[in-house]
Amino acid sequence: MQQLFKPNKAFAKDARIKNMCEYEELAEWAKEDYEGFWEHFAKEKLDWIKPFENVLDESNAPFVKWFDGGKLNVATQCIDRHLDSRKNKAAIIFEGDRGDKQIITYLELYYNVNRFANLLKNEFNVKKGDRVVIYMPMIPEAAYAMLACARIGAIHSVVFGGFSAEALRDRIEDADAKVVITADGAYRKGKPYMLKPVVDKALEENTPIEKVLVVQRNFEDIEWVSGRDYSYNELITSQAPVCEAEAMESEDPLFLLYTSGSTGKPKGVQHSQAGYILWAQMTMEWVFDVKENDTYWCTADIGWITGHTYIVYGPLAMGATTVMFEGVPTYPDAGRAWKMVEEYKINQFYTAPTAIRVLHKMGEDEPKKYDLNSLKVLGTVGEPIDPPAWRWYYEVVGNSQCSIVDTYWQTETGGHIISPIASATPIKPACATLPLPGIMAEILDPETGEKVEVGQKGYMCVTRPWPSQIRNVWGDEQRYKKSYYGDVKKDGKAVYFTGDGAVYDENGYITITGRTDDVINVSGHRLGTAEIEAAIKKHSNVAEVAVVGKPHDIKGEAIFAYVVLKSDNGVADEVEELKAINNTIKQEIGNIALCDDIIFAPGLPKTRSGKIMRRILRSLAKGEAITQDISTLEDPSIVAKLEALIQS
Ligand code: WTA
Repeated sequence: MQQLFKPNKAFAKDARIKNMCEYEELAEWAKEDYEGFWEHFAKEKLDWIKPFENVLDESNAPFVKWFDGGKLNVATQCIDRHLDSRKNKAAIIFEGDRGDKQIITYLELYYNVNRFANLLKNEFNVKKGDRVVIYMPMIPEAAYAMLACARIGAIHSVVFGGFSAEALRDRIEDADAKVVITADGAYRKGKPYMLKPVVDKALEENTPIEKVLVVQRNFEDIEWVSGRDYSYNELITSQAPVCEAEAMESEDPLFLLYTSGSTGKPKGVQHSQAGYILWAQMTMEWVFDVKENDTYWCTADIGWITGHTYIVYGPLAMGATTVMFEGVPTYPDAGRAWKMVEEYKINQFYTAPTAIRVLHKMGEDEPKKYDLNSLKVLGTVGEPIDPPAWRWYYEVVGNSQCSIVDTYWQTETGGHIISPIASATPIKPACATLPLPGIMAEILDPETGEKVEVGQKGYMCVTRPWPSQIRNVWGDEQRYKKSYYGDVKKDGKAVYFTGDGAVYDENGYITITGRTDDVINVSGHRLGTAEIEAAIKKHSNVAEVAVVGKPHDIKGEAIFAYVVLKSDNGVADEVEELKAINNTIKQEIGNIALCDDIIFAPGLPKTRSGKIMRRILRSLAKGEAITQDISTLEDPSIVAKLEALIQS
């Protein structure tokens, strides 16, 4: 049996969940009295404007309602209710790429968000239920924008700043948004970069956008479209400092966040108000055990769900101090993150395995140059972590004193669903361990719907609805049902399927084995192969394309594309074609989807019915020998041809 690492005793002593007995008690309570469990926490953790009448309504499953009849406001949960006890506490500590610093107290946050809310309401006529797209760098105004929307009941849709104009336009159109909030640009690795020109390009075609609000961050020159574009810096000064918070129904949408699925079009994952904020706060408290005086730093970008739940909503809902960082942890050198940990005396540090691998590779001993004694909890998220990176994180960064919480969850789950509790769960390398109390997660056999045996791979499912789960795919109920409730049935009832495979070990611990669908995870960025294929097909010379993931030392997975060109003469100029294809990807999606390998193939391995055999393409990309029967292929000789091309 593999060694388990126990939580630090001194840390566990006064934690919220002190040991596995307390964990078991909570988990049992949820199993025995599911609604009672959630009712208790919804009453304890949330401030209700109007109390809810019903805990869970499953009558229209998989469309569920939590805490129906209740009214609350998420911005109030995150700010106003802390003003009595913490008005002068740092809510957000911001560090810019070039080292500029800003501390925003809860009282300042209150006024900044209220002014922002008034601006949206009074200048742009944004109303409850309107969609607002946020395309922003990692600056405090991005958090103000999200909370301002929450305050007035507008639905925000944050689009990651690395997405291209095309990708931004698609999301604007799908959400039917009327306002974009952006910045001129920001700084990365000491240099200014631009965002506003991308917005301009996205809006060149007809879109539903009426107004663009521009936060001036780097003050570089930008184009201004009169009557459409407005300067935040100018408008904000004249806004009243208080804006009444809208009383929102528990089930009103709080935000949309687009994510990749197995078809070409990204899905607008729709989250609720009450259930989402409840679980964001509970998981912050349970998993990280953040204390009143702690400083917590999550390095994600607000363009992803981790930035939503674990930089903005979760930490602020519990009244914590959250660090926001504009830069990258490797600039000016591989000690940047550790220097910040030392300087701000960070207690919980939460990052992605890709960042850990990069920092490990660039500076094995770099953490030893800094005083990292403040650290109590280390976290990872977004992709599987490999044991060597895990060990370095544990031993060198955490000095073998900190628990690592390998948090497994998704855009759709709103918050962690399977994760160690830092103060209670004995951990083992690269293992998400156990479902959190209240989450009925099980690995099921997709054929029988039975729980799998130890060591047998199955589908990672959640068998009961939970408060922070996705409510719908924006505007597409069928897609919601099909994507999440179409694959696995337990006792004849459709259950939520994550899309991931998983396996139990002899302790009952869960290890996530990766996606079972055509979604790949590049540096923790979730991308659909179909989405990348659709982008490559836009290049006029491409006849056919198939994209697969290939293991990569740093990025976890890299993108490998097999492209069949239209010209019969083969590839005229390989370098030019490569450039053109990568440019198309840049335009359609953004740099995050660039291919590591592009092979110009004479054809693709297909069955006689025309289905592309991706399993073969995946094996070839990995350099594995093909052992499966290829005689049923339309043209079996294609496999050897591809093999030769890859090796050359
Ligand atoms: C993967 C990110 C292994 C998984 C929060 C999931 C993980 C997808 C882990 C969701 C983990 C996330 N171990 N794999 N701890 N956490 N994943 O929506 O494949 O960007 O389905 O949410 O990332 O990615 P998303």
